[in-house]
Amino acid sequence: MPAPATPERIKDVNERYHDVAASSYDAKWGIDFGPVGQQQVRAKLRKALGGRPSEAFGDALEIGAGTGYFSLNLMQAGMIERATATDISHGMLKALERNARELGLKVRTVATEAESLPFDDASFDLVFGHAILHHIPDLARGFSEFHRVLRPGGTLVFCGEPSRYGDLIAAVPKRAGLIAGPVWRRAIGADARDHEAEMDAHGHELEHEVDVHAFTPGELEGFAEGVGFADVHVHGEELLANMHGWTMRTLEASADPQQIPYGWRRFAFRSYIALQKLDTRVLEPHLPPQLFYNLLISGKRPGGR
Ligand SMILES: C[S@@+](CC[C@H](N)C(=O)[O-])C[C@H]1O[C@@H](n2cnc3c(N)ncnc32)[C@H](O)[C@@H]1O
Repeated sequence: MPAPATPERIKDVNERYHDVAASSYDAKWGIDFGPVGQQQVRAKLRKALGGRPSEAFGDALEIGAGTGYFSLNLMQAGMIERATATDISHGMLKALERNARELGLKVRTVATEAESLPFDDASFDLVFGHAILHHIPDLARGFSEFHRVLRPGGTLVFCGEPSRYGDLIAAVPKRAGLIAGPVWRRAIGADARDHEAEMDAHGHELEHEVDVHAFTPGELEGFAEGVGFADVHVHGEELLANMHGWTMRTLEASADPQQIPYGWRRFAFRSYIALQKLDTRVLEPHLPPQLFYNLLISGKRPGGR
């Protein structure tokens, strides 16, 4: 049995993997900086805050900002005023700076890992992130840093973290996508993607090493409350939408991307949005958070006004 990865190895692999992934990241995940992307991040922030509308945050710090999906969309949506975007990967931050330039947005970028932040105590009103906590080896240290750099009364929000149960059930659509791949490719007239070449070009042999956690709601709450956050809430989102999303992504990953028809991509996106609405309106208000694929957590640093 291989020895468990050390924290240094996990961070090193994350940096190298994301440096390579940066150039194709937005296309792979369908990252959008138009009205749809803004609406998506605004809805996630609201949901994490328990549906409460919030005033714009002044100084906001994003952890593991990637190419800027959250920071840049929240700025455009007027929900944050000044953004500092951090990431362990220089490649991701370069892509974020390019995106910001194209959108005409001013963002401070700082390359740093999450467990030791190069910022003064009490310097931000909001610390947030999307799909990042599950990459951080020592979450107790991470949360204690998030608490330290927040001003008293400041807000903590993390969205898009995989739940234990969601991670397990995601195996089903991934398997279904693999089985249906050959028939689907024949139906749309696409060739199989050359996986060997892909692996060589993108270093994806590291993919299975970058994700180190999936959470129960109680575990996430425990990290936040353990370092002194108050008013901590965990919500769940996306069940049907995620099953659908993983099936589509697995199918699409099996085909030559140039040969996937635009009509198919439009169908995949529209049906994902329709299922997301169904999840939000019908399932999320009635089912417990641990049943959903994604967890969202919010909390407050006590004190302040
Ligand atoms: C799944 S991506 C999410 C990126 C972005 N938040 C988004 O939603 O598109 C995870 C990001 O976390 C960064 N990351 C991984 N481990 C990290 C760590 N220990 N400290 C800071 N950033 C890290 C990666 O480089 C990558 O950009």
